[in-house]
Amino acid sequence: MPLVTVAQLLAAAESGRYAVGAFNCNNMEIVQAIIEAAEAEKAPVIVQASQGAIKYAGLEYIVALTRVAAEKATIPVALHLDHGTSFEQCVQCIWSGFTSVMLDGSKHSLAENIALTNRVLAVARAVGVSVEAELGKISGTEDDIFVHEREAFFTDPAEAKEFVAATGVDALAVAIGTAHGQYKGRPELDFDRLAAIRELVGIPIVLHGSSGVPDEDIRRAVEIGVRKVNIDTNLREAFVAGVKEVLAQNPQEIDPRKVLGPAKQKMSAVIREKIRLFGSAGKA
Ligand code: G3H
Ligand code: 13P
Ligand code: ZN
Repeated sequence: MPLVTVAQLLAAAESGRYAVGAFNCNNMEIVQAIIEAAEAEKAPVIVQASQGAIKYAGLEYIVALTRVAAEKATIPVALHLDHGTSFEQCVQCIWSGFTSVMLDGSKHSLAENIALTNRVLAVARAVGVSVEAELGKISGTEDDIFVHEREAFFTDPAEAKEFVAATGVDALAVAIGTAHGQYKGRPELDFDRLAAIRELVGIPIVLHGSSGVPDEDIRRAVEIGVRKVNIDTNLREAFVAGVKEVLAQNPQEIDPRKVLGPAKQKMSAVIREKIRLFGSAGKA
């Protein structure tokens, strides 16, 4: 079926009290792994691409690959820009066929983040594209932030309320203790903060940096109101583990299909597990 918006998927997730998986892609095998897994689980799904992924694969390729995969699929698929940092990047994705964009204005002041998000919203609303914003700073695990400093970057619930009232975004990414990349220890999520934000904003919450977050914490976050869960690192790990496995067994292999095919299967298995964990299996 044609691509749908993230707002549509999250509205259904809101009434069903589950979360939709948002998986990062940057090549054909990853797009296929995402759609095949979602199709097997009869789950709605979000394919997302970062600015780095767009630079690597090319904007038109990302759109064309995802569009073809979605049109062949029987489940609803949305195509989302992950961590767009400029108005221009968001608009370029909107014109190219993305059905949702994230404007990550987290490095700006609250007032600047609101202003930038509103500029993107004005364009997105005119063409029915949904918008995710970020408040607080979601760090990278490599950022070596001391634990006592961490909370300085967390989303402030009162600011979140002000932000959502001033913008009307479809979904809000929050900083509550998750980080992008592989965790060194067990991440400590601030569930009280998550609950306070959710209570005050009443819109779908997005959890970034979700690879490596224990299953029980993901379940708890979804119970509180997380409706979109972003996964990238776990797919990278599965892909590369698959490639390494084939080449360890047969170092002479020269057929890319025999190297990447099993890697795709490994990613697909991870995505299926995540979809079940998020509660979106069978919801398409
Ligand atoms: O949030 C970050 C995503 O994992 C994308 O990472 O910028 O290396 O493509 P990337
Ligand atoms: P992970 O790579 O930690 O799964 O984070 C993904 C993400 O948040 C993409 O925006
Ligand atoms: Zn992210």
